[in-house]
Amino acid sequence: MRLLRLLLIAVVAVGAIGLGVLAWFVTGSRPMAFAGGKTVSLAAYKGPSPTGVPADFPSTDPVARGQYLARAADCQACHTAKGGTPFAGGLAFNLPFGSIWSPNITPDKETGIGAWTDAQFLRALREGAGPKAHLYPAMPYAAYAYMTDADALSIRAYLASLPAVHNQRPRLTFAFPFNQRWLMAIWGRLFNPAQHFQPNPDRSPQWNRGAYLAEAMAHCGDCHTPRNLTQALDNRRKYAGAVAAGWKAYNITGHRLYGVGAWTDAELTQYLSTGHAAGRGSAAGPMAEAVDLSLRYLTPSDIQALVVYLRSIPPVSTPDQPPPSLRPAPAAAKQGLAADYEPKGKRIFEGACVSCHSWSGQGALNEWATLTGGRAVNDPSATNVAQIVISGANRRTPDGLTFMPAFGHAYADDEIAAVANYVTARFGAKPSKVTAKDVAALRKAAS
Ligand code: HEC
Ligand code: HEC
Ligand code: HEC
Repeated sequence: MRLLRLLLIAVVAVGAIGLGVLAWFVTGSRPMAFAGGKTVSLAAYKGPSPTGVPADFPSTDPVARGQYLARAADCQACHTAKGGTPFAGGLAFNLPFGSIWSPNITPDKETGIGAWTDAQFLRALREGAGPKAHLYPAMPYAAYAYMTDADALSIRAYLASLPAVHNQRPRLTFAFPFNQRWLMAIWGRLFNPAQHFQPNPDRSPQWNRGAYLAEAMAHCGDCHTPRNLTQALDNRRKYAGAVAAGWKAYNITGHRLYGVGAWTDAELTQYLSTGHAAGRGSAAGPMAEAVDLSLRYLTPSDIQALVVYLRSIPPVSTPDQPPPSLRPAPAAAKQGLAADYEPKGKRIFEGACVSCHSWSGQGALNEWATLTGGRAVNDPSATNVAQIVISGANRRTPDGLTFMPAFGHAYADDEIAAVANYVTARFGAKPSKVTAKDVAALRKAAS
């Protein structure tokens, strides 16, 4: 009897702790709860509407306005296969328990969303509930939940104006129990309040516009905010850095050392609108995509609003992610050390990299290729160094093309590890110790 009672107490205690942890996760997942201050409904808000296209948007054409919003929300990045037709789907998302491919959202009636009603579209976009099945949060519906009906339907009108493309995505390969879509209904209940954006009357109109853009549209947090065990965002550490598609999305809180608190407004503006800020580095990988497909199309007033919002994010310290070193070119002694540390890496750098990056790392080719000062070479995990060696860069920027070849096929995993370790030892604060096995995992995580 006594054993039974003890057992019962233990079960209740474990249950209570479990519920407590879950409640902690749930409250932590609400993005705006941590942006400070009170909020009011859009209808009750007295200021200029933070939603829709900005006042300085030049066109009144509904399709052009829908395109602006679709770009701000960056639907294209995920719904386009590598080299595929925009919005026709087929991009792989590789997770430890299998892969999922993005669906076709062109107006094709059979394989796209041409036959969907507006109501079905709204539910899928904001609640993650498709007409037939629940969606995985690889689709950022917890962010889009903040979108107004008008903006969501404006995006739909733009999508409906595109040519219909017949393209069926591959079947999902998740292992049991992850292949059980109904579990996503529970996840959605817990982590997606399905509440639309609520402005904060104590903040400026610019801040509110920035908050709407960052949270309801550009979903910065989906890449930059760490996640809890259930894959929901941990907004208690909002924008403190996370891993996105195998790349490090760094700490962009207001922390002066670990975040972007020491960047000037001009640097943030330049980085967000062009993917490069002098002395701060260039956007590569998923951030290059976010800039090239989305942020570069935003009007100057919208970029300004994003910067104002970003500045208000409370600083979070992340000592495991060392700050970028602001040292200029490394000392000669260090260069000798780097060669001793990784002789194979030095040979590869000499043969394949130095022509564009120069021995000083200051960008022989152009400013975009400057290696020193940026985060990638100062991150002792060398994650983004290895990733850019694998996938290269091919960006159409306002200043023309920036190009770095993809070496993923040319080099074996141990060679990529060697050159990554050489680059961090030579140009960064601390040499990395990436292994061939790490590189294999990074290849798998990238889509
Ligand atoms: C971060 C990547 C990502 C972004 C950004 C994204 N999606 Fe998705 N979307 C997905 C994935 C992955 C799925 C498939 C989810 C599943 O099958 O469970 C999906 C599913 C959908 C579906 C359901 C389609 C179907 O056939 O079931 C629609 C509709 C959709 N997305 C529209 C949009 C729109 C509109 C935008 C921009 C406002 C957008 N998505 C942005 C990744 C993304
Ligand atoms: C699809 C994922 C993704 C999204 C969405 C995204 N980022 Fe990033 N971001 C990254 C990655 C990855 C990097 C690192 C890029 C590199 O190493 O070149 C990065 C880098 C940055 C940096 C440079 C930080 C540094 O210290 O070098 C800033 C600033 C930034 N992002 C801001 C934003 C803002 C603001 C948004 C939303 C408007 C946003 N990002 C949306 C993935 C993303
Ligand atoms: C044809 C010229 C070229 C060659 C060759 C080249 N790169 Fe690059 N690299 C660039 C350019 C341009 C950029 C900036 C890309 C951008 O806009 O994001 C860059 C960026 C980088 C970055 C910064 C990534 C980040 O996340 O910020 C690293 C690290 C790098 N290259 C390493 C290498 C290594 C190692 C090699 C040799 C294996 C190499 N590169 C070969 C042109 C080149």
